[in-house]
Amino acid sequence: MAMVGSAVGLGNIWRFPYMVGEHGGAAFIIVYLICCFIVSLPIFFAEAVIGKSTHKDTFGAIEELVPGSKVKNIGYLPILASFIILSFYSVVGGWSLDYLIRALAGGFNGRSIAEAKEIFAGVSSSPLENVSCMLVFLGVTALIVVAGVNKGIGRFSKYSIPVLFLMMVGMAIFSVRLPGAGKGVEYLLRPDFSKLNGKAVAAALGQSFFSLSLGVGTILTYASYMREEESILRTGWWTAIFDTIFAIIAGFAIMPAVFAAGIEPSAGPSLVFETLPVIFSKLGFLLPVIFFIAILIAALSSSISMLEVVVTWLVDQKKTSRGRASLVVFLCAAILGTLCALVPRVFGVCDFVSSNVLMMIGALVFAMIVGWKIPRERVMELIPSRFFYMLIRHVVPIMILAIAITNLL
Ligand code: TRP
Repeated sequence: MAMVGSAVGLGNIWRFPYMVGEHGGAAFIIVYLICCFIVSLPIFFAEAVIGKSTHKDTFGAIEELVPGSKVKNIGYLPILASFIILSFYSVVGGWSLDYLIRALAGGFNGRSIAEAKEIFAGVSSSPLENVSCMLVFLGVTALIVVAGVNKGIGRFSKYSIPVLFLMMVGMAIFSVRLPGAGKGVEYLLRPDFSKLNGKAVAAALGQSFFSLSLGVGTILTYASYMREEESILRTGWWTAIFDTIFAIIAGFAIMPAVFAAGIEPSAGPSLVFETLPVIFSKLGFLLPVIFFIAILIAALSSSISMLEVVVTWLVDQKKTSRGRASLVVFLCAAILGTLCALVPRVFGVCDFVSSNVLMMIGALVFAMIVGWKIPRERVMELIPSRFFYMLIRHVVPIMILAIAITNLL
């Protein structure tokens, strides 16, 4: 459930539904599923094999598997990437908290979209509000991680993810029954194969990487805590299936409501913080409140997975306590998070470098280690599937290089 929590996050809510609509509806969903199956799921398995077979942190695991060479220093990259993602993700987590408080105070009642734009501009440019909410979000993340893998991360995920799921299903049922919602359903589902091109495939791959939290040691770190009898294949399949179902349900919660209100769909902050609060508050007090609680749960269950990567590394390699490690990372992320909150350019650079550069390098390294370095028999013990072994060894590296080139162009 913790892995599902890591996967299900803002990526599912503010990017997936829009991407589906823009890139050809059901046709894009099919491409997404294929990408997930032949590239992302194998990378998930590769990361998990590294974690489960070494029971170490990201750096320690790579050092053990590629010993005695300078290559092991590559192990710092995923940890750095997790740290960077944590910092800017916490800014958005902070906005969600801010918006939950506003929704509770009925702050969106009777507002127009133009007014909501002003509210968002106010929130995201007010240093005090922005930074303090980010710090609270990061602080809660750190407290869950301090409580431990079982008592903190495990327990939080076990209870909050099913609640999150129910909330989204409820909102989706509500949303598709609104008058005029049919257009939104059509936007999500009508297959338009003419929109499928190289760009759509690269977008599907990038989205599934981010959504499954790949390439930055998150899955590796969580897998390092797996028990011997727990199956990597099963865990990976369930995570990918839940993550995709959740993203599609989020689409049904969001797009029909957007179309019913006669608004052009968008992606990212403007969808979640400008369009939706206004639409949902027209439909009652409770809806925006539930929506922002859902966003907060989704964001927290992801941010704890990013923090855990860095904390596990400090605990294993620097022999510090979990409490002290969490405090140190909290303080460092607070500094970078503050910069991200105050300077939009820093936010943008952090997002770009981590998602387009570091994640890709990490995913390539993990696949190469499992495909070419670890003895085949050992890999087959952990993931008894020749098909996925072949994908990890040959298909994944080629696909990652292909996306890297597409993105650079
Ligand atoms: N998967 C999460 C989402 O969809 C975000 C996330 C959590 C993440 N951990 C990660 C992204 C590690 C990249 C790497 O929002």
